[in-house]
Amino acid sequence: MCGIVGYVGHRQVSSFLLEGLRRLEYRGYDSAGIAVSRDGDIQIRKKSGRVSEVARLVEQKPIHGTTGIGHTRWATHGVTSDTNSHPHIGGNGQVVLVHNGVIENYTTLKTHLQELGYVFQTTTDTEVIAHLIEFCFNEQIKLGDDPTAPSTCVKAVEVALTQLKGTYGLAILFQDVPDLLITARLGSPLVIGIGDKEHFLASDATPLIGYTDEVVYLADREIAVLTADSLEIIHRDDGRQTPAIHIIDKSPGDIDLGGFEHYMLKEIFEQPQTIENAMRGRLDDDEATAKFGGLNLDAQTLRRIDRIVLTGCGTSWHAGLVGEYVLEEFARIPTEVEYASELRYRNPPMANTTMIFAITQSGETADTLAAIRECKRKGHPTLAICNVVGSTIAREADGGIYLHAGPEIGVASTKAFTSQVMVLIQLALFMARMRHMSFPAGQRIINQLKAMPSMVGKALKCHEQVRDISQKYAEFNNFLYLGRLYNFPTALEGALKLKEISYVHAEGYPAAEMKHGPIALVDERTPSIFVIPQGHIYPKVISNLEEIKARGGPVIAIACEGDDRIADLADDVIFVPSVEEYLQPLVTVIPLQLLSYHIALCRGCNVDRPRNLAKSVTVE
Ligand code: G6P
Repeated sequence: MCGIVGYVGHRQVSSFLLEGLRRLEYRGYDSAGIAVSRDGDIQIRKKSGRVSEVARLVEQKPIHGTTGIGHTRWATHGVTSDTNSHPHIGGNGQVVLVHNGVIENYTTLKTHLQELGYVFQTTTDTEVIAHLIEFCFNEQIKLGDDPTAPSTCVKAVEVALTQLKGTYGLAILFQDVPDLLITARLGSPLVIGIGDKEHFLASDATPLIGYTDEVVYLADREIAVLTADSLEIIHRDDGRQTPAIHIIDKSPGDIDLGGFEHYMLKEIFEQPQTIENAMRGRLDDDEATAKFGGLNLDAQTLRRIDRIVLTGCGTSWHAGLVGEYVLEEFARIPTEVEYASELRYRNPPMANTTMIFAITQSGETADTLAAIRECKRKGHPTLAICNVVGSTIAREADGGIYLHAGPEIGVASTKAFTSQVMVLIQLALFMARMRHMSFPAGQRIINQLKAMPSMVGKALKCHEQVRDISQKYAEFNNFLYLGRLYNFPTALEGALKLKEISYVHAEGYPAAEMKHGPIALVDERTPSIFVIPQGHIYPKVISNLEEIKARGGPVIAIACEGDDRIADLADDVIFVPSVEEYLQPLVTVIPLQLLSYHIALCRGCNVDRPRNLAKSVTVE
C-alpha cells in the first residue's frame, strides 16, 4: 500500500508531487506529505488526512525547490497521525525518505539504533530505515568517503538495505547532496519516468501521465540513482543494469472524471466499452475460438493441461469463481479458485500439468504475487489476467492476458470485474475449442459475446430506478445477497461492494445454502437481494425467495426482462436484459454496483475513498 512520488529536474517540484499524490490516493489516504530539497536544506510538509490537507499547508507555507519526494499513506505500523505521516527523517536530518512496504525486523533494528543513540520520533517501521541509512552514511564518512559525493549516499543505502527484512519501495533525499534522488525496491512497485533533463518517480505510472510516456520499471533488489541528467540502475547481485525503456499509452483523459461525480460511477458506466476492449482482436470467427497473444504456451502444452487453479483476492477472486464455473462447463477442465493469501502458504498438491492463473486488476497485490511466485518456484506455468500493463505480476508471470480496461481509480473495483469475467469466458472458449467443443458451439458463443457490450449498456438503463430504490433501503443495516450457480459469485460481489463503500453489513450466500444459518437473520429490517435471472434452476431460486418472504424479509430481485412472475413475489424488481446463464454475471452485477454506489451516497460515505481500504494491497 501507500503511494510514492519523486522528482529531480528543473520544475518547481511541489505541484508535481501534490498532483501525483492525488492520483495515487487510491493506494492509501490516511495521511500524506512531501519533502523538497534546496541548497542543503530539506523542507517537509506533512499531515494526517487527505492530500488536499497537505496542499493547503503548502499553500499557507510554500516550499521551493526542484528535487523532492512525496507519500500518501495506508497505515501498517503506527497510528494515523501528523507525526507518523511520511516523509521521515534520519538522525540529525541528513536523510529524508518515504517508504511503501513493511519492515518485519524493525523492532530489532530499532533497539539497536536506540542503543547507538538514535532518538525515534514516530511509531512507524519506516523511521528505522531513515536512521539506519543515516548511520551507514556516517560510517562511510568515518572511512574517509566524501560526504557530498553521490557515491557515499549510494553506498550508505546499499549497506542499510542488506539489513532490512520485509518489503520496501523507497525514495530517499540527502540533505548535503541536493539534486540527487535515490530509490530502491524490494516487493513494492516503483516506476521511473524519463523526461527532458528531468526524472520522475512513482508507485505506478498514473502520476507520470501528461509528463512523459517513457518509463523504466524498477525490479526487486534494484537501486536507482537519479539526477536531472542521469539515471543509473544497480542490482544488488548483478551490478549495473541497462535501463529497459517502455512506452506507456495513457492520456490525461484516462484519469479525469469525465463529467461524472465519482470515479466509481464513471467506471461503472465505462463497462460497455471496457467489455468491448476485453474482446478486441481476440474473437476468431474463422476458427470459432478466442485467441490470445501473450499466453506464451504452445498448443501441445495447453492441451496437456488437466487442471486449472485461479487465484486472486477480493473482487478478482469473485471473477475467478465465475471463471471456475465457465471453465468447467465449457472446457471440462477441473478448476479451482483459491484465495491467494491461502494458496501462498497452503502448498496443495499440483502436477506439472496444472496451470495457474493469477487474476488481478492492479498486478501488485502482495498475496497474489507471492502465490504465483510460490507456484513458479515449483515449476508450474503461471499466467496472469491483469489490468495494469507493466505491473509486477504482469512482468513476473510466464504469460498472460491484459484486460485493457484503462485505469481503475475508484477503490471499489467495478469495470475490472466485468473485464476479468469476459476474459475468463474467452479463455474457457479457447481451452474448450482445443478439446471437444464443436465449431457451431464455438460460433454460437462468439455471437453471444459480441452482443454483451450492448447488453451491458441496456443494463445500465436501470440507473434511475436503482437510485430510487436505494433511498428506500439506505437506512437498513444488514443485507443478504443470494444467488445460485453463475449468480452466486455475483451475490458475493454485490455484498462486497455494499460493505466496501457503504459500511453496511452484507453477506453473499448461495441462495439455497442460506437455509443453513443466514435465514436466522431474516426479519423485516434485513432485506435480501435475490439475483434471479431466468435459468434452469429458476424455480428452485423462487422457492428460496418464498422462504425469505414467509419470514417477513423484504426482497429486492434482480431479474430478467420478461419475467412476469417476479413482481408479485418481490418488494422491488430491477430488470436486466436476458442473456445466457454463463453471461448473467456481466449484466446482473450492474444494478448491484449502482445500488452500493447510491446507498453509500445516501449514507454520506466517501465513495471513491472508503475508510480503511486501499485499492492496491501491497502488504501481506
Ligand atoms: C483490494 C481492493 C479490491 C480488489 C482487491 C484485489 O482489496 O480494494 O477492490 O478487488 O484488492 O486487487 P487486485 O488489484 O489484485 O485485483
